Amino acid sequence: MEKEWLLFVSWLIIWVSLHTYDVQGLGVNWGTQANHKLPLSTVVQLLKNNGIQKVKLFDSDESTLSALTGTNIEVMVGIPNGQLAAMLNYNQALKWVRRNVVRYNFNGGVNIKYVAVGNEPFLKAYNGTFENATLPALENIQNALNEAGVGNKIKATVPLNADVYESPASNPVPSAGRFRPDIAGLMTQMVQFMSQNNAPFTVNIYPFLSLYANPDFPVNYAFFDGGATPLVDNGVQYTNVFDANYDTLVSALNAAGYGTMPIIVGEVGWPTDGDINANINNAVRFYRGLLPKLAANTGTPLRPGYIEMYLFGLLDEDAKSVQPGSFERHWGIFRYDGQPKFPMYLASENREITLVGAQNVQYLENEWCEFNPNARDLSKLGDNINFACTYADCTPLGYGSSCHGLDANGNISYAFNVYYQTQYQKLEACNFGGLAKLTTQNISTGNCNFTIQIASSGLRTAASVPFLLIVVLIFLFF
Ligand SMILES: *[C@@H]1O[C@H](CO)[C@@H](O)[C@H](O)[C@H]1NC(C)=O
Ligand SMILES: *[C@@H]1O[C@H](CO)[C@@H](O)[C@H](O)[C@H]1NC(C)=O
Ligand SMILES: *[C@@H]1O[C@H](CO)[C@@H](O)[C@H](O)[C@H]1NC(C)=O
Ligand SMILES: *[C@@H]1O[C@H](CO)[C@@H](O)[C@H](O)[C@H]1NC(C)=O
Ligand SMILES: *[C@@H]1O[C@H](CO)[C@@H](O)[C@H](O)[C@H]1NC(C)=O
Repeated sequence: MEKEWLLFVSWLIIWVSLHTYDVQGLGVNWGTQANHKLPLSTVVQLLKNNGIQKVKLFDSDESTLSALTGTNIEVMVGIPNGQLAAMLNYNQALKWVRRNVVRYNFNGGVNIKYVAVGNEPFLKAYNGTFENATLPALENIQNALNEAGVGNKIKATVPLNADVYESPASNPVPSAGRFRPDIAGLMTQMVQFMSQNNAPFTVNIYPFLSLYANPDFPVNYAFFDGGATPLVDNGVQYTNVFDANYDTLVSALNAAGYGTMPIIVGEVGWPTDGDINANINNAVRFYRGLLPKLAANTGTPLRPGYIEMYLFGLLDEDAKSVQPGSFERHWGIFRYDGQPKFPMYLASENREITLVGAQNVQYLENEWCEFNPNARDLSKLGDNINFACTYADCTPLGYGSSCHGLDANGNISYAFNVYYQTQYQKLEACNFGGLAKLTTQNISTGNCNFTIQIASSGLRTAASVPFLLIVVLIFLFF
């Protein structure tokens, strides 16, 4: 009897603590634009093993949500920009909400907390394409959530790029922050609607991009360890661009009449390859400043306290568009194969530790494809390299990147190998008109990894089914 009481009370405590309070701590963005993906169950286990309790998705993929079922990990599901127009029809929005949110809203289901309506829809690069659809889509989704009876706990928000607000060039201080003039009216309406529904404002803040975009940007100002000439604003000293940027938003919200609206940082992070400033040392330096600050609930000068934050990103994604820059494929705190790239500060440990890597990752054979220096006809070499680099990721070869130091033959081998790996080491993928050959020697050099890809995912998740059955049986009988 006593034992049962104890069990009941501890269960109650756990239940209450899981349901009453928002989960504090770190979130991550889980993007999936990789040529070879880890099994979903492996990624979910990776999250759990590292105590990551919040995840932001860019879609509402059914198998991903199935893998998150029963984990209690807080989830932000996403509606891609391309689907915003469809949400202008309220019935479509209602259908979307039923199919992608309500369906998982049961005890032991998926702990969905937010719906991201679009992803940076007002980015200047989109030339206004999504400007008209975003607000009505947001309204329809939140109204549908409300109608479905889940609007109290599940909020619709729009992850926005930080260029929706700015300070005037004549007075470039955070306190002068206002919404970008061309969309100020729209932003105010959107903020008003979100405020009525107790939904948060979501913004992506990238000190790396500030540095990347502006050759005159003071490097130290991108980090948190001082050394930058402070920006003084009404007596407040700003020593890092993250705080200054965040407070520019606080001021813009304030000027619009919503100064206390909650803010989520939907994306923040530092890439490790693909640019002169994208490397492991800089990523370590960035996170070494950001994460203890987050854990200490320091907040910013205008908003001290906890900041809800989602790192970008969980894993490297070698199939992302490189239109913004070659670094796009290297944002992961884990490599493509779920192995940690560098130690990180974890609040639960109060120190930097090596994160737990993905378990039981299945790799292809230890076999590489390289340039055959005895090849006679080199006339098609350029075409073959172009072909390889069109269908596989050659960004580590670029200026400032990890494989930039290779000689000409090394360059060719890199391209051939990455294509061969991406093609699951199919024999015909290491031919290139006789220019290539196979080797079992690891041809990695120094900083430059000739990686072996992970094997295809799929069947392995089935192994957990008998295990689950056993667990259920044990519960039933004891
Ligand atoms: C936006 O406009 C620019 C210049 O007119 C063009 O190059 C680009 O392709 C356009 N982008 C989109 C998403 O339409
Ligand atoms: C958005 O709506 C305005 C006013 O109705 C219209 O002039 C504009 O062309 C629309 N923009 C797009 C991208 O559809
Ligand atoms: C290797 O390839 C990169 C990217 O294509 C290029 O920038 C670099 O100059 C090449 N290096 C050599 C030695 O050919
Ligand atoms: C190949 O060598 C590099 C170091 O040069 C190492 O990091 C990597 O793990 C090796 N790959 C394999 C598959 O052994
Ligand atoms: C290459 O792989 C090794 C692990 O095998 C890792 O320690 C190293 O950081 C990698 N280098 C780059 C530039 O990714």
